[in-house]
Amino acid sequence: MANSKDAISIDTPPEHVAIIMDGNGRWAKRRGLARLQGHRSGVDTVKRIVKAADIQGINYLTLYSFSTENWSRPREEVGELMNLLKMFIRKDLAELHQRNVRLKIIGDRNTIPNDIGPLLLDAEALTKDNVGLTLIIAFNYGSRDEIKRAMQTIATKVANGELKADEIDNETISNHLDTSGIPDPDMIIRTSGESRLSNFLMWQAAYSELIFVDCMWPEFTGDSLKEAIIEFNSRNRRYGGLEDKKPKEVSK
Ligand code: IPE
Ligand code: IPE
Ligand code: MG
Repeated sequence: MANSKDAISIDTPPEHVAIIMDGNGRWAKRRGLARLQGHRSGVDTVKRIVKAADIQGINYLTLYSFSTENWSRPREEVGELMNLLKMFIRKDLAELHQRNVRLKIIGDRNTIPNDIGPLLLDAEALTKDNVGLTLIIAFNYGSRDEIKRAMQTIATKVANGELKADEIDNETISNHLDTSGIPDPDMIIRTSGESRLSNFLMWQAAYSELIFVDCMWPEFTGDSLKEAIIEFNSRNRRYGGLEDKKPKEVSK
């Protein structure tokens, strides 16, 4: 469909875009709907944005779907969020696979419901050789929890003599996080007008460009993504130096 924004060149897209999908509840409340309706509508946005990210040439898309702190919500809402994830994997995996999407899940696998773990493993196994967009779902994810688990693994290796304490560097830590092998996000978008990370990718976000948009997640569109990319491309990334650099020029 013809669209005025199609005419805008957005040249190089960021390699990795991460999104804090926030505002489902408020979106529903404003319409007099139950929060569940907001989460359902949020899943439609997920499908739309996965397609849009692919079209924009983004290689990695990370979506924050459930945090380690979200367990503190009412039991019913937690159950609904679990069901939506299960339904998404059951109903939409085939299409993602067909579109060459590689699915990866980050977050703590040890504290998720028994019926979800195998579903996630199967989804990853099915799509592991796909070479299109890598879609990373952050589920039961918290940055502090991820760093804690990485520290535990590293400490065990040091105790076993597999690793020396003074050999631990930034790369060692990155390689022990759930995101090992995935480049750091170039841009992190948060919807709903909140300006915080809420325990999302705190190690990886060291030099990410942060973009906060006012719309609620169910209202976020392909054009919103395009606008964020245009904003990203107007930013000057210096990584502590004096010149604008592209991520690939930055050594870890
Ligand atoms: C984001 O929407 C989805 C999750 C955190 C699972 P919210 O449910 O946080 O919506 P608000 O912030 O209450 O509007
Ligand atoms: C962050 O949103 C988590 C997800 C989007 C999954 P929250 O709604 O949980 O964050 P806070 O509570 O407003 O910080
Ligand atoms: Mg919220």
